[in-house]
Amino acid sequence: MALYQGIEHVAVFSTDTARLRDWYAAMLDMKPVLDNGAGNYFMLMADGSLIELSPTTQGARSARPHMKDSGLRHIALSVDGNDFGAAVHRLVEAGVEAVGDSPRQFPDGMATFHFRDPDGNILHLISRPRRLSLGVAPQLSGAPVNTLVQGIEHTCIMARNPEALRQWYIDALGFQLIVRDDGHGTAFVLGADGRSIIEFIQAEADAGIDPYKAAGIRHIAIRVSAAEAATAAARLKPMGVEILEDYVARPDGVHLFFFRDPEGNVLHLVGRTDPLLT
Ligand SMILES: [Fe+2]
Ligand SMILES: [Fe+2]
Repeated sequence: MALYQGIEHVAVFSTDTARLRDWYAAMLDMKPVLDNGAGNYFMLMADGSLIELSPTTQGARSARPHMKDSGLRHIALSVDGNDFGAAVHRLVEAGVEAVGDSPRQFPDGMATFHFRDPDGNILHLISRPRRLSLGVAPQLSGAPVNTLVQGIEHTCIMARNPEALRQWYIDALGFQLIVRDDGHGTAFVLGADGRSIIEFIQAEADAGIDPYKAAGIRHIAIRVSAAEAATAAARLKPMGVEILEDYVARPDGVHLFFFRDPEGNVLHLVGRTDPLLT
């Protein structure tokens, strides 16, 4: 097994995580599976993807970022082509704010719909005629079934220097380049698990560096084995990553290491002695 296995979860920080929890459940078929009693929830999707909702008292630099502002900018959710219309309809009926000239149908059969969640975070639905990922989703007990929204297809980073940044994810975290340019200047990298995908697009505006617990789509958690978590953290340190919370093996068996990528996006390693879900 690779040292850096792929994405365990993507975290959204909010001043009202209960509101987001209920909205993601109703509108996007996510199921709250963990609740720490203090406003932190893990939302499980049909294919095993996870979104962490984490409380914050810090606002973001902009609560309503533009599509091409630098940073962790959107989460794309996969929908089967047959369900795309119904999934869009549900959101439009609920009055979500669409972003850009969306929904869009592309000649190759791809369809996308960009919109904002109640906090102003940008999400999009995507259906593709051919999947980008290679991996088979794990069967998790308790995962929602018969859903329109299947899981996280990719997470997007708007980068000041997309070529250099994606190369860093390849060199430092073991991702592989699977699409160099999709014809719109977009590159995709795939994690060792064959399922985790990050999209890199040229940012058009520099949105600065937010505090690492500011509201918004705030971090990507990289799965490592608990046994190798210390090694995985130690490998990153000589690369000069900015450390936000140094490596810790918590008494509950969770191993963590919080840091920033070269453009300031927040990542953390997570290794669990006991699996989060089975
Ligand atoms: Fe995207
Ligand atoms: Fe996290």
